[in-house]
Amino acid sequence: MKHVGLDFGTANTSVAISNASQTNVLNLEGHSGSIPSTLFYDFEDDSTVFGEAAFERYYFGDRGRFLRSFKSALGTTTIDHIIRIKLNTYTIKDIVQQYIGEVLSRAEIQLGSKIENLVVGRPVSFVDDNPDADRLAQTTLKGVVSELGVKNIEFQLEPIAAALNYGVTVNGEETVLVIDIGAGTSDFSVVKFLSRGSADSLESQVIANCGIHIGGNDFDKQIALDRVMPFFGYQQKFKRRPELEVANSFFLNAASWHRIDLLYDRKVINALNELRPQVLQPDTFTRFIELIESRQTHRVLGAVEHTKRQFASSENALIELPFVDPGLDIDMSRPEFEDLSSTMCGDIIRTANQAITDAGLAKSDINTVYVTGGSMGIKHLHRRVLAEYSDSRVIEGDRSTAVARGLALDAQHKFA
Ligand SMILES: Nc1ncnc2c1ncn2[C@@H]1O[C@H](COP(=O)(O)OP(=O)(O)OP(=O)(O)O)[C@@H](O)[C@H]1O
Ligand SMILES: [Mg+2]
Repeated sequence: MKHVGLDFGTANTSVAISNASQTNVLNLEGHSGSIPSTLFYDFEDDSTVFGEAAFERYYFGDRGRFLRSFKSALGTTTIDHIIRIKLNTYTIKDIVQQYIGEVLSRAEIQLGSKIENLVVGRPVSFVDDNPDADRLAQTTLKGVVSELGVKNIEFQLEPIAAALNYGVTVNGEETVLVIDIGAGTSDFSVVKFLSRGSADSLESQVIANCGIHIGGNDFDKQIALDRVMPFFGYQQKFKRRPELEVANSFFLNAASWHRIDLLYDRKVINALNELRPQVLQPDTFTRFIELIESRQTHRVLGAVEHTKRQFASSENALIELPFVDPGLDIDMSRPEFEDLSSTMCGDIIRTANQAITDAGLAKSDINTVYVTGGSMGIKHLHRRVLAEYSDSRVIEGDRSTAVARGLALDAQHKFA
């Protein structure tokens, strides 16, 4: 009997299967264990493509609609945002369903059978400080998966899943702080392992969970707002009232992966056209209007994300935007990135420590810190985590598959 776990991530999605003897991550696209959470409607051949293929078509310049980070819309009004694709209309919820439907059907082809039982991962909080919105997010996700034909759906917190994956290797009693820094959220669990763990005899006790809606996407957003959006008119002042800045909502949307599509609306273009002659540098608005009309906004944020990732190995990097203006390269150094994101790193560490406090423990009680999630690649964040828990052993989990593996292991218990 194969048990299945789905880690529907903000940036990447994985499916793992587990049986009594082993756990494997399915190859959902080529040879990679995870597939980017992206979708592209191609206007040229009316096809819909997913994952890396969606990136490729969008970057290649095919006419169409690119979408990414739709998980972040769960529990917010953006989930009902309407996207017009030629004569059809879709909501972001429809996009979530098409995407998960594609992932599950690829998994089913490899499994050779329909998935009837599924453990789906979820962040500790889909939405910060709003239990109703958080419940709604899970209900929406459950509805989406159920409409795809999965009969039995259980949820598990993503950091607990990561802990279960780690637990397979545990010998003896151990208290673990799990840190999972993804694209949309940062999630933490304190888990106590009571005995030697194995897929079917793991004894663990979850003591506390905490989460915060800060992830890699927010680091992209911060860089974009500080370094890039001013070229597009962010913080422009009015000619007649130089003490006033134009509203920032357009630029916040342009800097947020899951809200870019909100800009692709005639009303936005009309509003920007009205504002253009009123601001001190109308050229910046011309550039922004052209960006939106040519549907290049994701590309700008993609260049920002690329620069962020370069800081894993470089001291300096360029945000390259030749498709906006030939030669438009914005120079940035790692210390500048560290400064810009210092508050977010502090918030993430504070939330991790809150999980320890909620568990009724002190930092000194944590034997092991198990870290996972792609944003652990942010060098200074990684360094701060190591410094914060310098008395504990830090174990690096597989950044892209630890959660999915744990979800599949959990499915063995939930659907025993
Ligand atoms: N080397 C790197 N340096 C900095 N950031 C990185 C690096 N590699 C990946 N990332 C970031 O990691 C994030 C993706 O991580 P991950 O795949 O764990 O997210 P996710 O599981 O899809 O999101 P979530 O769990 O929040 O729903 C992206 O924001 C990406 O930019
Ligand atoms: Mg994740």
